[in-house]
Amino acid sequence: MTAAQILLSLSDDLGAAVPTELSQALDLVEDVLTEGTRSRVELVETAATSTLRAGGKRIRPALTLVSALACRTDADIARTATLGACLEMVHMATLMHDDVIDGSATRRGRPTAGVLVGTEAAVLSGDVLLAKAMNILALDGDIEVIRLVSSAVVALAEGEILEIQVRGRFDLAEHELDQVVEMKTAALLRACCQIGALVTSAPARHFDALSEFGACVGRAFQAIDDILDYVGNPARTGKAVGQDFREGQATMPLLLYREKASAEHVAWAEQRFGKDPSEQDFGQIVDLMVSSGCIEEARRRADAELDRALAALGLLPESPYRNLLETMALALVRREG
Ligand code: IPE
Ligand code: IPE
Ligand code: MG
Ligand code: MG
Repeated sequence: MTAAQILLSLSDDLGAAVPTELSQALDLVEDVLTEGTRSRVELVETAATSTLRAGGKRIRPALTLVSALACRTDADIARTATLGACLEMVHMATLMHDDVIDGSATRRGRPTAGVLVGTEAAVLSGDVLLAKAMNILALDGDIEVIRLVSSAVVALAEGEILEIQVRGRFDLAEHELDQVVEMKTAALLRACCQIGALVTSAPARHFDALSEFGACVGRAFQAIDDILDYVGNPARTGKAVGQDFREGQATMPLLLYREKASAEHVAWAEQRFGKDPSEQDFGQIVDLMVSSGCIEEARRRADAELDRALAALGLLPESPYRNLLETMALALVRREG
């Protein structure tokens, strides 16, 4: 996959807006990823390369690179691309783990690593990727970068486990959902933007602005992912719909459904939550969510988070790369896949 194709997968506007140096930097990210997914053990290589070649939006390295360039146009591109690739390796590892946890058979439109090599090998291949990412960070040698990434990995893993802890809870409270999202998704996207600031030795106020931007984009991004889990088109998202409901994972559309649907419809959905409902029953819940405005309200909340992200960008110096961060955030919230 070329850098331009990756960015075009987000939005047509973005493809057109990508400067040559960024496009070249994203190609460099692909080189590091290709190298990072090699292994002397066949099962590891199969699990890692199949996840890599299946595609993906590469938003994490793109955010690291554009954040760095928004701080300094003469940022060290090779180093930033290498660190961005590390963050994508962390992401790929967590996807391999997540698909085992969620029992997902399809990711990025292809069979998941667990389907290809078995769940045991998929989990351990994820561990290999994580350790390889840490190895690249150690070679880079910047203790502050290592600290940021390792803290994000801890938050992400704990967030995934917290999700298991609350699995099956139809009555999940909004603050509990927020905590899961903060840890499993926002922490890594925040770290991606922070590292962009860090490698350019940006002043604290720019680091803080990018940190806030990354966290807000992360929350909005997961909010959209959770909406697409109900109303997405698998041909666009590359994953099946209804996973969260089937697995008993309460997300914002369900929290809103609990508020907006009739008591009878709520009780009916609760009986099916986490219990592999029929396609027809799931379709009926989605229809009710749409007609009672739950999906619209969930999108409004994602938009509010996007507004906070854009407000944080206002604290950065004006530049074409700051504009590109804005375009990326918009594309991520408007995405269909
Ligand atoms: C999926 O992330 C997992 C979430 C945090 C929602 P992405 O949607 O970035 O996955 P790829 O890399 O594009 O496949
Ligand atoms: C996000 O959670 C996954 C990670 C943070 C690794 P989901 O379980 O909602 O992500 P998808 O929908 O499987 O991509
Ligand atoms: Mg999942
Ligand atoms: Mg999950």
